[in-house]
Amino acid sequence: MTQGADRTPGRRAVLGAAVLGSAALGIGGATAAHAEERHSGPSGHGSSGHGPHGLAVPTVIAHRGASGYRPEHTLGSYQLALDMGAHIIEQDLVPTKDGHLVCRHENDITGTTDVSARPEFASRRTTKSVDGTSLTGWFTEDFTLAELKTLRATERIPASRQENTLYDGRWTVPTFEEVLRWAEQEGRRRGRPVWLHVETKHPTYFRGIGLGLEEPLAKLLRRYGRHRANSPVFLQSFEPSSIERLAKLVSSPRVVLLSGAATRPWDFVQAGDPRTVADLVTPEGLAWIASYAQGIGPTLDLVVPRDASGKLGAPTTLVRDAHAKGLLLHPYTMRNENSFLPADFRRGTDPNAYGDAFGAFKVYFEQGIDGIFTDNPDTGLLAREDFLAR
Ligand code: G3P
Ligand code: CA
Repeated sequence: MTQGADRTPGRRAVLGAAVLGSAALGIGGATAAHAEERHSGPSGHGSSGHGPHGLAVPTVIAHRGASGYRPEHTLGSYQLALDMGAHIIEQDLVPTKDGHLVCRHENDITGTTDVSARPEFASRRTTKSVDGTSLTGWFTEDFTLAELKTLRATERIPASRQENTLYDGRWTVPTFEEVLRWAEQEGRRRGRPVWLHVETKHPTYFRGIGLGLEEPLAKLLRRYGRHRANSPVFLQSFEPSSIERLAKLVSSPRVVLLSGAATRPWDFVQAGDPRTVADLVTPEGLAWIASYAQGIGPTLDLVVPRDASGKLGAPTTLVRDAHAKGLLLHPYTMRNENSFLPADFRRGTDPNAYGDAFGAFKVYFEQGIDGIFTDNPDTGLLAREDFLAR
């Protein structure tokens, strides 16, 4: 397994910078040293709640949009997240058959669109191996953009998030270019940039079938002026080689995602690189990441591990170690429902009921993380306010 160590929901289980500061990002304003001076306590955050380039700290990153309330990766989900006040809106990218980048968490669109109910595409159902896992379903790379655009997005986990199914069929699968245009328009309307956090999904797999993601992504970033070190965007991937490749194409800030400690990034597997995530979170591993990226996106369990009963244990030294290398931390993913929360914060026995999400956010913010991915940006923003007022 290379992704989803945060118990990502799905059919197949499916941030500012502290020490990073403006120096590493090159985004003007305070120096990293100045950023350090502003730190007021063990969290490493100043009381202003703002980092360089106006980015709020700790940063609330809307995971797949406001996916706790709307079908993920739709313009409706992104819009709600932005309207709630999320500081950054996340996109996961996969390609179509004709090379367009679209926003989906995975290329298998069986569980997040109405494709299985579309008789005209019944024959496209197939089985393939993606990153070593055999999957049966419908895949973006087998559809042209025109075909994909006839589909409608649906809720990924309807049994858990029944209310979100109200919006099934309302939106199409957005292209990344549509999102860039939307962000530009919303930025103009609000008088400030709309930050995006953009992930390349299965980059080695796609390059292997002639659909490399990084070049078209870089082209779009250039076209929409988000290719600079001070652009309001983070690029992210679970595969370090994708981030290294992007570093050669654009200067936009970059984040290496880290799944469970025992996992190996899929590009490492393919290249015969024996390192696991456990190797990457050592000081040596972090120094290597810092040579081509500005941050890491670890699973929350790498920051505060859970014990066998699901309760939070003692925090690791990852925040301190990453900051010592000038890396920011954007861990993933906080969700309000009991089934995703650490056992300490579950309330009652209904897995789909909300637990004490504020209590969990507090613990994570107290570790000094620079931002957090969450399906529930409104909750995250209130928790952040509590944290800054402490
Ligand atoms: O990209 C941060 C977080 O979204 C990683 O997990 O599997 O939801 O993309 P995933
Ligand atoms: Ca993601």
